[in-house]
Formats: sequence, C-alpha cells, structure tokens
Amino acid sequence: MAFDTVGGVLHAEQVSLEEIARRFGTPCYVYSRAAIEANYARFAAALAGRHSLIAYSVKANSNLAVLGLMARLGAGFDIVSGGERARVLAAGGDPRKVVFSGVGKSEAEIEQALRAGILCLNLESEAELERVDAIAARLGVRAPVAFRVNPDVDAKTHPYISTGLKDNKFGVAYADAERIYQAAARRKAIDVVGVGCHIGSQMTGAGPFVDAAARILALAERLARAGIPLAHIDLGGGFGIRYKDEAPAPVGEFLDGALGVLAGRKEMLIVDPGRAIVGDAGLLLTRIEYVKPGETKNFVVVDAAMNDLIRPALYGAWHELRQVRQAESNAVAGVYDVVGPICESADFLARERKLDARPGGLLALMSAGAYGMVMSSNYNTRPRPAEVMVSGGAATLVRERETVAQLFAAERLLP
Ligand code: LLP
Repeated sequence: MAFDTVGGVLHAEQVSLEEIARRFGTPCYVYSRAAIEANYARFAAALAGRHSLIAYSVKANSNLAVLGLMARLGAGFDIVSGGERARVLAAGGDPRKVVFSGVGKSEAEIEQALRAGILCLNLESEAELERVDAIAARLGVRAPVAFRVNPDVDAKTHPYISTGLKDNKFGVAYADAERIYQAAARRKAIDVVGVGCHIGSQMTGAGPFVDAAARILALAERLARAGIPLAHIDLGGGFGIRYKDEAPAPVGEFLDGALGVLAGRKEMLIVDPGRAIVGDAGLLLTRIEYVKPGETKNFVVVDAAMNDLIRPALYGAWHELRQVRQAESNAVAGVYDVVGPICESADFLARERKLDARPGGLLALMSAGAYGMVMSSNYNTRPRPAEVMVSGGAATLVRERETVAQLFAAERLLP
C-alpha cells in the first residue's frame, strides 16, 4: 500500500519515486504518511478500552513532521535527550505525555524536563535518583519518577540492540529494585509514579515481552504491598518488523499477551514503539553513479552511503533493495554489491543482489524509516539527505538537503 509498483515504476502512495528524485534530488528519505498512521492505528486498536499511552520512541525518527503526526494522533513520546524534548515541544507534543529514558541525563536535561512538566523520568541508577531529588528540591517541585528495571529476559535479538540482560548498561537490577524503590519513596522531592523496562529492539516473538511484563507486574505487586502503589507500567518498545524473511508476531499478539498478564490491574499501560511505527513507512532513494564490474564481484556505486544509512555497516542489517523502474533499458543484469562513495570497505548498503543496473538508474532501500536519517552523519563531509513526506498524491519536503556550507559554518580557522 505504501510503496507499490504502478505502471512499472515504484511509487510512494500515489507519487512516483522518479518524480520525487527529479523534484528533490537524491539521496533522499521518503516516508508514507498513510503507512505511519496505519502502523500507529494497530497499536491504538490493540489497546482500545485500556487505560494506556502509546509513547512513540523519538529516537527512531525524529523529523518534526513525523512528531507532529504523532502529536495529532494523541501519542505520547519516549525521549532520551534534551534535544528530543525540544523537538517534541516544537512539533506540538504534549509534555504531560512524555517519558524521559536514558542512562546519562545531565543536570540541565533533568531541570528542563521538570520545568516542562513531563509525565515521568525513567531513572536508571541510584546516583541519578540523588541528582533528580536535589534538582527537584532546588526548583521546589516533586519529580515524577519510575525506575527502568532490568527483568533479565533475553529478547533474542541482535546483541547490539538487546538491552534486558544482566550484563548491559541499562536499568537497575531486578534484585535491587525493591530496595531502590523504598529509598526513592523516602526522598522529599520524589514522586514514585511507575516502573519501566525495555528488553531489546526488533523482537520477532512476543514471548520475551510477555515474560518481562509478568516479572515487572510481580515487582509492582510487591511494591504495592510495601505501600508504594504505581500509576503506570511502561513495557518499552522493541516490536519487530519484516526486513527480509523475519515473521514478526503482529503487534496485537505482543499487546494481547501483556494485557492478559495485566488483566484486572488499574495501572496505565505505556508502550514505546519506534521501529514498528516508522520502519516500513520509509525508504532511502538513491541513484546509481557507476556500474563497476569486477573480477570476483560486481559493484554498483550509488550516491547514498554508510553515512546516510549505517545499519548495514553497523549491524550487518539487511534492507530490501528495489529498482524504481522495473524494466530498465540499456541495463546490465547481474548480481551486485551496492556500495557508496565513502572510503571504507564497510560502506555498503546491500550485498549480492540481483539487479538490472545502469548509471542513472534509481534504487530504493526499503524499511529505512527507523534508525535511518537519525543515525546519519557527515562523514567525508557529505551533506545529509533531504526528507520527503508523501500523503496521497502530494509530496512535501520535510527537511531540506544539507549544504556543504552548513557543514563547516560553525568551524573557525586559527588566527
Ligand atoms: N524504549 C526504549 C527505552 C528504548 O531504548 C528503545 C530503543 C525503544 C523504546 C524503541 O525501540 P523500538 O520499538 O524502535 O525497537 N539503532 C538500532 C535500534 C536501537 C534501539 C534502541 N532503543 C537499529 O537500527 O536497529
């Protein structure tokens, strides 16, 4: 629906990607508004009738247009920095629906979050509790907090994006949680309002998510008996999407499982999906510069690179590659590695793909809506791509392509 081939040419909704390349240039991220809204609707439907909050995980795609769509749908936001807080507010997000996660919040970030009146700070250590208590006392407010508790459940995903096991940096240990909650409840400027967890990203099976929910609920029950009732339980994000041949459980299965565990409980249920909202709603559009046959491998060199989409280089991630024009004339059919212009062997976007390649041909790397543009860099002094939002027959530029002048405008020559 979002990205289909119509008349032999790949479209974003009703707009051909050839037209988008002509109007906005390449490389370029292209998003489908309908796909983003449909993905959000799946969460809303699964949680209908339940006291709940869908806190979109801003880190997945923080373009103001995306955040604005989420705000209009009534979403909350999961943020990890003062920068993300500023974006959410600039896009019209409601601060009372913001949860602030992250292991290293600075004093300034905590103060700004408290001033903005956010829903909750998800604390990750006792040192952070002390810092938040002191800042809240100085401001004369009470800080609403939850602890991110590490349920020690294996999310069964890539080790770099698995976060719920004992030996990683996130959260407080399950075994210490009760003691830490007791300590928090005694603090003058702290309001204990919830508990959080997030066991990993790109989970395909709902089992670990439901196991984590059960362990977090057991903790919440023990806390209630100890006189520390919670207003919400935040189960994090991590709902997987299909990149290649994964068969992720539908969102409803994750949420039904968790709702089953939480049946009869009155705490608000929070989830913070990122990838499952924007991942398959975006693609990276790129143009072939050169076709370069080799002795053992054939390459197409494109105008996008690892600085634009780092997931293949960083995680060995696989993104589907599609030709924008199905029947290319003067193209050479073959099996190609799709690489960028950057001076690194890790600069590849796709490997060993069947393709009809010709210089000037357009390619699309699919499912690049999450952790694409947000993880881009200016390595090799490459301006970052433009971003375009398509809705029906309209394509809107939602971020201009960077210029080279912008890249060094803040730098100074020595006198
Ligand atoms: N909540 C918390 C506390 C998180 O740490 C994360 C992601 C999410 C929610 C959203 O997870 P999602 O629903 O998107 O899976 N750069 C990696 C993914 C890193 C995810 C970090 N935390 C990638 O490209 O696969």
